[in-house]
Amino acid sequence: MIKSIAVVGSVNLDLTAYLDRWPEKGETIKTRETKIGIGGKGVNQCCAAAKLGGAVTMIGAIGDDEFGRGCVKTLEEIGVQTAIIVKNDHSTGMAFIDVGPESDNIIRIAAGANGALDTSDIASRSEPIEKAGYLLLQNEVPVEASVAAAKTAHAVGTISIMDPAPAPTPAWGRDVLAAFDILTPNGGEAGAILDRNVRTLEDAAKAAKDLAHLCRVGAIVTMGNLGVAWHLQGCAGEMECPKVDAIDTVGAGDCFNGSFAFALCDGVSYEKAIRFASHAASLSTTRQGAVSSLPSLDEVREFMEKSG
Ligand code: RIB
Repeated sequence: MIKSIAVVGSVNLDLTAYLDRWPEKGETIKTRETKIGIGGKGVNQCCAAAKLGGAVTMIGAIGDDEFGRGCVKTLEEIGVQTAIIVKNDHSTGMAFIDVGPESDNIIRIAAGANGALDTSDIASRSEPIEKAGYLLLQNEVPVEASVAAAKTAHAVGTISIMDPAPAPTPAWGRDVLAAFDILTPNGGEAGAILDRNVRTLEDAAKAAKDLAHLCRVGAIVTMGNLGVAWHLQGCAGEMECPKVDAIDTVGAGDCFNGSFAFALCDGVSYEKAIRFASHAASLSTTRQGAVSSLPSLDEVREFMEKSG
């Protein structure tokens, strides 16, 4: 039986501005281009898996507003099952994204309804988590809700994959980290959890090993265009990522996680799933936007063939 994926996480409206240069403090500049689309690390992970052909359910919160209803409609059009809670006293989450001239970005978030997702919401939406093979989590909803979801998953053997993005501040304690099966931070997030710099692939390999001791199964540390290192069930490895001309890296980490879970559902090894996810994420950086940049299965397969 093909396994399904449940995602517990954020739903945002992304307002993205593409800039030819970064403004100085106090300066007004014109944007080159602007885009409005659905986003949020939860939605992006969920759409990454769904666009590849995965069976995915999104559990999250929106406000009682047109933005939120639009996000749900778009998710359903992409083929995602939705188990969304409407928070009447909150607005749908928003992200204000600036993409700079070197495809780098800064993101400011208004959590809105995402910040009101609580453990009772998880209890009322536990069924898709219990039926799933994998549960995807990120750090844009309260950590209590993520921990409750991970515990629900663990009780029935669903594997939880937590991307601690944005970096938890203050850093999570051992009790929180121990609730998750697999951690998938980037270098900055791994550094924030371990309280040291993680700048090279060698640093990432060491961080993956140390993080693996803090959670149930192991850790993957993604390092953007440097590659990725992992330590999973006692097996360690690292690989470079495929070379691309990146124009927009927003959502690349989310694409990695959604694609990783999709590949695991297919029954492949951790290493093959990481290779597949690295190719999907690299490909996504060659296109604009978060959800709009996510590749199809045929596109990832073709890219993997081309890059050998
Ligand atoms: O990871 C990218 C995402 O971060 C964006 O879609 C934005 O909504 C923020 O949550």
